[in-house]
Amino acid sequence: MKQPIGIFDSGYGGLTVFKEIQKKLPQYDYIYLGDNARCPYGIRSFETIYEYTKNCVSKLFEFNCSLIILACNTASAKALRSIQMHDLPEGKKVLGVIRPTTESINEYTKNGKVGILATEGTVLSNSYRIEINKFFPEIEVFQHACPLWVPLVESNEINSEAARIIIKKDIDQLLAQAEDIDTIVLACTHYPLLLPLIKECTPKNIRILTQGELVAEKLANYLQRHPEVEKNCSKNGTTLFYTTDQASDFERNAEVFFEKKVKAEHLLI
Ligand code: DGL
Repeated sequence: MKQPIGIFDSGYGGLTVFKEIQKKLPQYDYIYLGDNARCPYGIRSFETIYEYTKNCVSKLFEFNCSLIILACNTASAKALRSIQMHDLPEGKKVLGVIRPTTESINEYTKNGKVGILATEGTVLSNSYRIEINKFFPEIEVFQHACPLWVPLVESNEINSEAARIIIKKDIDQLLAQAEDIDTIVLACTHYPLLLPLIKECTPKNIRILTQGELVAEKLANYLQRHPEVEKNCSKNGTTLFYTTDQASDFERNAEVFFEKKVKAEHLLI
């Protein structure tokens, strides 16, 4: 019986991570679930994000996934810990994207000043500061929430003049906290779609970090270190896409994020 690896996001953003995971580990079976009907998560309360994420994770367990990656920073920040503590059936694992990003941040920053751009939910949770300082207490973390960026991406406004103005303002506000920040983490899986504009609006000496490759690398490493989890993941190289909204919309928009055509099915949660 197939035991796919589950990949979850509130919408399309997780596809930027999944794209890299599938490139790095093409042998496994995958199920991607986007909760597009209830996206964005980033502006919602802790209780709501936990409830929504738990629903989707349960659905992926029903599909026989024994390992699930929350390819969403907001869900990783607000729901992962509670799910790990209260909602994991025997032998099932759920992992997030914050730890893989934070545990090696010292390889990127030279002066120990790191900026985090993320949703309001992720910033308010303070998860990035807490996680980074757990590994590297000397690193200073500056955070700024960008509530308009996910709506820009979800509505495919990724090259517009309006997007440029909004992005410039948010980056200026982050740098106003410390102008010598040398590394900025795009701590939302939607943001890589805005990368060309983000680069345009950021001083050239600042390194901009996206999560896809990093998470894929860390997952490969995790599977090597955990043969008891790896042996439960089936290997036929198949992928299924599910969305809680209209499948035709998902198929049209997903291509921008995934850089490949996809076939999707609607899922009622
Ligand atoms: N892609 C999600 C993240 O990484 C956020 C999108 C949302 O607000 O739903 O945080």
